[in-house]
Amino acid sequence: MSQKNNKSESATYWESHLESWEASAYFKEGQQKANWWDKLSTIFRGDAMYVRMQTALELIKPHIKGKTILDVGCASGRFAFQMLEAGAEKVQGIDISADAVSFANRRAKELNLQNQLVFSVLDIVQPNTPLPPADLVTALGVIEYFPTDDMRVFLSNLKTKYFLLDFPDYGRKKEFPTWILRQVYIRVNKLPGVYLYTLDEFEKIAKPFGFTNLRVIKKNKFFTTSPTCLNEKNLPASP
Ligand SMILES: C[S@@+](CC[C@H](N)C(=O)[O-])C[C@H]1O[C@@H](n2cnc3c(N)ncnc32)[C@H](O)[C@@H]1O
Repeated sequence: MSQKNNKSESATYWESHLESWEASAYFKEGQQKANWWDKLSTIFRGDAMYVRMQTALELIKPHIKGKTILDVGCASGRFAFQMLEAGAEKVQGIDISADAVSFANRRAKELNLQNQLVFSVLDIVQPNTPLPPADLVTALGVIEYFPTDDMRVFLSNLKTKYFLLDFPDYGRKKEFPTWILRQVYIRVNKLPGVYLYTLDEFEKIAKPFGFTNLRVIKKNKFFTTSPTCLNEKNLPASP
């Protein structure tokens, strides 16, 4: 497992970088806390993060009524709130950023939703992380920061049959200008790594943990992957 001071590389990076990333990714709500490089990346990223969340929500909406969901890498809870509004019974969020988690818990309390929305600080790629069982696990833009060993730990920690994981399209490696820009962003921001998996590679990693029947649905620039998303028959067909 790739760890520094007993903390995973993704956790070490995101603990200090999340506030700036969120401010630039969800720029419509204010960019003040974004660093210069994140502000610049907003020019290229545009509203892709809003589109990604909306796309994921539309995919799972028919399946979440009355269900318990765990959102891994929940940041300040944006997606968790949306899933609750869309009919989930309870949404728990996990993130490494204590600031983001306490913001999310404060907001849930202000809205008197603290019984349905619960956020906790955990490093998801530490072995035996005590995760609550869930009908569905979601993670938007999280697993691409996990090298293979960490990915295995992540999957071994999940107590669910179904997940929806959203991660960047492996094919973007071939989009030369975007790839170069991403490499510059990674180096300037001292991101330890971004790992893009093909479906075949990911399938091999996930199978020993019982996650089979993976479906990849490509929308916009992102892959959304799910091994059935609660009910395979009800899943929207791949475009
Ligand atoms: C790119 S952000 C995506 C945030 C959110 N899912 C969204 O789409 O707005 C990645 C998130 O994963 C969290 N994260 C990364 N590595 C983590 C780890 N090892 N344990 C817990 N959270 C982690 C980060 O703190 C951050 O909130």
